[in-house]
Amino acid sequence: MSKKRILTGHRPTGPRHIGHLVGTLENWKRLQDTHECFFLVADLHVLTTSQADPERIHSNILNLMADWLAAGIDPVRSTIVLQSIIPEHSQLSMLLSMLVTVSRLERVPTYKEQIKELNLQPSLGFLTYPVLQAADILLYKSQLVPVGEDQLPHIELAREISRRFNKIYGETFPEPEALLSDAARLPGLDNRTMHTSYENAIYLKDTPEETTRKVMSMYTDPTRLHATDPGHVEGNPVFAYHDIFNPDKVEVEEVKNSYRAGKVGDVEVKHRLAEVLNDYLAPLRERRAEYVSRPKRLLEVLFSGTAKAKLVTQETLEEVHENMGLMHSQSYSEKVLAKNIPGIFC
Ligand code: TRP
Repeated sequence: MSKKRILTGHRPTGPRHIGHLVGTLENWKRLQDTHECFFLVADLHVLTTSQADPERIHSNILNLMADWLAAGIDPVRSTIVLQSIIPEHSQLSMLLSMLVTVSRLERVPTYKEQIKELNLQPSLGFLTYPVLQAADILLYKSQLVPVGEDQLPHIELAREISRRFNKIYGETFPEPEALLSDAARLPGLDNRTMHTSYENAIYLKDTPEETTRKVMSMYTDPTRLHATDPGHVEGNPVFAYHDIFNPDKVEVEEVKNSYRAGKVGDVEVKHRLAEVLNDYLAPLRERRAEYVSRPKRLLEVLFSGTAKAKLVTQETLEEVHENMGLMHSQSYSEKVLAKNIPGIFC
């Protein structure tokens, strides 16, 4: 039996942090064992909210790739694709936009939320963001799409578009399904959601020293003034991190008990966390350093993946053109139009 196909991706908006690692990338890494995976560097999507900084996109693309590979994305088994090199993404998006109403797009929850949050005048491209995402998914005939919960409305729209296309033009696309990871959400250093723009993240590119410094500055239990005060473990990000990154579960339970009993200080608990976190990240840093020292290899991975993807996307787009009654080459249009000439002109 052939493996099910997955397409998922990130916008190259900045370095990946340990929240991405445990929430997303470790899941992607596992999925490579059982699925055929395409990982998309969605640089076109960046333009929907910011247009000002071409060079920044370039450096973000390479950093994103270095982070993915460091986290265990395997360029031999999986395919990394750069969206903007493949015009089929834009082309399919344009064709699919014929099957969606404006009011349907205005009802996508992320659309309304982001306008409020970013305080922006939405462009047409921002409105059609989820159509471009649907095109990304359907272009590869992807059956499964691993995403975070925030992306579910976009997957729902891709499913609707797939159904509508198949109904009008005949069976062409699978109906893609979202695949949610069950990893717990990692809080940021300040106990808010970990987010690049909040300056509360530990990045995969951080050195062990930076990581230790950040851990030592973490929010803990604000009600605890002295190490002898009983401390709160629940809702305390230091322990949320211990739960995830400390392999010694017995030690974690002991430290929690001591903390609750006021027998261990925050500094000590954080020191130990910095150690276990740095141990956890050591193999990733090694792989990352290896790629960063050979940027040519990064480009090779990107271009060979993109070339492989191009074969898939070209085939899908031709099929879509044919099903929609459009032409994709002179030889095809000669065949189709010549066949129809007798009926048209007699
Ligand atoms: N919209 C996704 C995000 O912001 C990125 C993305 C673009 C994506 N195209 C995709 C995710 C296709 C899954 C499938 O995170």
